[in-house]
Amino acid sequence: MRVPTHNKAPTHNEVPTHNEAPTHNGLPTQKHPPPAQGARALQWRIAASLAVVAGLALGGAALSDAGVSREAIAQLMKQSFGERGEARLDRLDQSDLQRICSDYTGRELPRELREGLEKAALDAVKYPSDGRYLGDFKAGERIAQSGVGMQFSDAPGTVAGGNCYACHQISKEELAYGNIGPSLYQYGKLRGNSEPILRYTWARIYNAHAFGACNSMPRFGAAGILTEQQMRDVMALLLDPQSPVNR
Ligand code: HEC
Repeated sequence: MRVPTHNKAPTHNEVPTHNEAPTHNGLPTQKHPPPAQGARALQWRIAASLAVVAGLALGGAALSDAGVSREAIAQLMKQSFGERGEARLDRLDQSDLQRICSDYTGRELPRELREGLEKAALDAVKYPSDGRYLGDFKAGERIAQSGVGMQFSDAPGTVAGGNCYACHQISKEELAYGNIGPSLYQYGKLRGNSEPILRYTWARIYNAHAFGACNSMPRFGAAGILTEQQMRDVMALLLDPQSPVNR
């Protein structure tokens, strides 16, 4: 049994203004993982710098609710984090979609804009090259359990897991799971595995933004978190009739 690394989704209405955390399990990377005292010092430093940039930003164009410009916040973020291991600073750069989602924090995206973003995400989905959607559900279970990969503490080249249980109930045997996403228990039993279901589920895992422009599920294919074979394996976990999910 594994304890999920967090039970709260990174959301785009937290500062920093992005809708995926720098690491896909929600832990931004700090230069020096500080002990309690260091953490307090860091908070002070951030508070002090924010006060300074707030002063500098007065009169600037786009100010956030706190009166700080987006550029000032971005710069502060870049100064506050360091590159280490797999975690590079380019994670702080927002995609166009993330920037739009940040701009609409707490508000509905206008329908046309939302549909355009979702369509672009769906059009860019790469379906399995050999037409095989289902791999090995046992490997899929291991991938769904694993929150390893893409973190500052991982050696470069570490194969990433999906950390699906951090947000979803999946098989019944695993009791430690998050509930940010819906339960996927009996996913295949309830939906079958017709071609449209296979394609929908693949696309959903590949790039969740295709089905909800600003939703918080990581883009496992589009962001290069999982390989095509790993995608097949988690697909099998959800859809293979022999998988514990469907029995
Ligand atoms: C950070 C949280 C998070 C993680 C990690 C995550 N998901 Fe999700 N997932 C969600 C949310 C939230 C939704 C619902 C989104 C919505 O309402 O549009 C969702 C929806 C889904 C759906 C669609 C469910 C349906 O009823 O159609 C599938 C399938 C899915 N996730 C599979 C996975 C798999 C497989 C993994 C791991 C490889 C995973 N998710 C990891 C948050 C997450």
